[in-house]
Amino acid sequence: PEIGHRYTYESLQETVEFLRSKVPYLPEVGVICGSGLGSLAECLDNPIEISYDCIPHFPRSTVKGHVGALVFGFMSGLPTVCMKGRFHYYEGYPLWKCCMPIRIMKLLGVSHLFITNAAGGLNPSFRVGDIMFVKDHINLMGFAGNNPLQGPNDERFGPRFPPMNQAYNREIIKLANKVAKDIGLGDRVHEGVYTCLGGPNFETVAELRMLQMLGADAVGMSTVHEVITANHCDMTVFVFSLITNECIVEYESLAKPSHEEVIDVGTQRENSLKQFVKELLKQIFEN
Ligand code: 6GU
Repeated sequence: PEIGHRYTYESLQETVEFLRSKVPYLPEVGVICGSGLGSLAECLDNPIEISYDCIPHFPRSTVKGHVGALVFGFMSGLPTVCMKGRFHYYEGYPLWKCCMPIRIMKLLGVSHLFITNAAGGLNPSFRVGDIMFVKDHINLMGFAGNNPLQGPNDERFGPRFPPMNQAYNREIIKLANKVAKDIGLGDRVHEGVYTCLGGPNFETVAELRMLQMLGADAVGMSTVHEVITANHCDMTVFVFSLITNECIVEYESLAKPSHEEVIDVGTQRENSLKQFVKELLKQIFEN
């Protein structure tokens, strides 16, 4: 297959230099705001917003519900950068381009990456508005031979063959369960396995039943390749999915998933999720 253009370490450094000239501190925490979850960036004190359009070498975001900016600021006192809007495979970017911002965050100094997404619930015990802490993933795009790490490996980021069996930090998941309990979300959180399809269409009934048989609890169109890229460069990763719809696995059902419903559920849950993220960050860094 065509290897194609990759970002060189040097070109990513140009992006980093630009951002360092705009922001007078270095972030230690990164947050990727999923569909309908852009309001998580409102947790930042003293925000500095930089549109993707202004950032050298950055891809451009095209989806509704994704604004397209890096927002720097302080979350629970910690220097943080939020991605308001991410790059999706279905927009036409190759996976290495979708994951470029992860390496930018790494080079800026981010050690802890919080990734969020909207997902369909495959596990029948999940309800709309529930939160799933991702404990593992199934990289279906990888099964099909597509991976963000394909092509020449730059050892300055990480090893050629990175392990993925501890991709999701167990300590943070433990703490997340405790924080959720403390703030009254205890009965709305789960742990589970996330899987990603390329999209943009939602899945057929047969596809969703297959995903259930594979052991996936939630399905979306992002995150897995970001987690792989972040683990490759040795970041500590925490991921949660907001369950925005129940996957329809019955031919009799007339319900249809829609992007609007995905965004609406995000809006309904934004206050509790903001509180949850701030409290979790606080507790991670005080321990
Ligand atoms: Cl049902 N499928 C996928 N692939 N992504 C989603 C979803 C479903 N619901 C929200 N995001």
